[in-house]
Amino acid sequence: MWGGRFASGPDAVMEEINASIGFDRRLAAEDVEGSRAHARMLAATGVITSGDADQICDGLLTILSEIEGGTFEFSRALEDIHMNVEGRLTALIGAPAGRLHTARSRNDQVALDFRLWVRARTDEAIAGLEALIRALVAQAEGREAVIMPGFTHLQSAQPVTWGHHMMAYVEMFGRDLTRFRDARARMNECPLGAAALAGTSFPIDRELTAKALDFDRPTANSLDSVADRDFALEYLSAASIAATHLSRFAEELVIWSSAQFRFVKLSDRFTTGSSIMPQKRNPDAAELVRAKVARITGAFVTLSTVMKGLPMTYSKDMQEDKEPVFDAADALSLALAAMTGMVADMTPNEARLREAAGAGFSTATDLADWCVRKLDIPFRSAHHITGALVKAAEERGVDLADLTLEEMQAVEPRITDDVYSVLTVDASVASRTSHGGTAPDQVKAQIARWKERLA
Ligand code: ARG
Repeated sequence: MWGGRFASGPDAVMEEINASIGFDRRLAAEDVEGSRAHARMLAATGVITSGDADQICDGLLTILSEIEGGTFEFSRALEDIHMNVEGRLTALIGAPAGRLHTARSRNDQVALDFRLWVRARTDEAIAGLEALIRALVAQAEGREAVIMPGFTHLQSAQPVTWGHHMMAYVEMFGRDLTRFRDARARMNECPLGAAALAGTSFPIDRELTAKALDFDRPTANSLDSVADRDFALEYLSAASIAATHLSRFAEELVIWSSAQFRFVKLSDRFTTGSSIMPQKRNPDAAELVRAKVARITGAFVTLSTVMKGLPMTYSKDMQEDKEPVFDAADALSLALAAMTGMVADMTPNEARLREAAGAGFSTATDLADWCVRKLDIPFRSAHHITGALVKAAEERGVDLADLTLEEMQAVEPRITDDVYSVLTVDASVASRTSHGGTAPDQVKAQIARWKERLA
């Protein structure tokens, strides 16, 4: 490729550290697509003949089918996917192959290929998140009044509903959706035509290639075009946050499916048995989803660390951009699919959830609120009275609602019989009617909004 200037070939170690064909062969389809658009544009602008462009495009399609059919012979000596494809094109069609690289460099070529690849995986992440959100909405719908414990610090806090809890994750994954959509809009500019870094003296038409490859427009600055990997960083950043959400939910599924909690039953399809303990039903899928965040966030850290401190424009460091992104994209799509499957299949244990919701004096806040309203006292005083009542109940080993009126009045003489009406988990949940609260009508409204958004 650059034999003109070199007397000897590369050292074996040089070849090994330099070659990217071991992994960038995953860009084959994008490389062929980009090269075909480039060849067509070169013909349209009169830089090459349309006869040459036809031969180039046909040859490229042959190569793609060879790669997809597994008959293509990749060569490490040819370094990367770009040179492997061009080398094979030369073998197939001869001299016209040498015209394909006119007005182009591997720098804008790889920037384009990688961007096309990341854009496709962004679309896939968007579709995967939408599927997960649909599964969560389906879990929530009809269970707006299924009562379960709400936690802070994993300590009993206040009763909430299953529907409310599912819809909380819908909000999180919904933000992930918008992050991927925003990233996609920003990455949708075509770097092809930036050439090595400075642009080209050939009369190319960058609008034409941008349009042919479904980009909104060409990138504005040729130096930035070959130096930029923001699109991959943004993808990884959105992926890391989504993976963090997946991990948190997976952790809840692990806890909830334990014999001690019994909040949920995961289906046989997403659990495994033990080779020694016959009773076992392990939440392996949830555990692996919980762990995938490590490699996804690791990929973000890897790529941002590769990019930091790189001077303008392209440096070979940037060849290290692909493996982390490939790995993260694979991990994310698997994690999304596994979580969607688990959510679609899981069954909440409604009786157990209700029982757990009443534990740990979870309606103590309702009692304090009652004191504020009925006794016309400041919340802080009500908090103090309720604390004393919780202590009394704890000492007797009963729930708040099991204290007699006399026992309550021993703490605060103005308390009346009416207080018992706020101490049930149903009353507690029904009372939380503020916007976004856990009252069933509020949860129904959230579900309705999401169904409209997804329609
Ligand atoms: N394999 C290279 C990469 O992935 C392609 C670009 C090479 N450009 C260069 N000037 N050596 O980054």
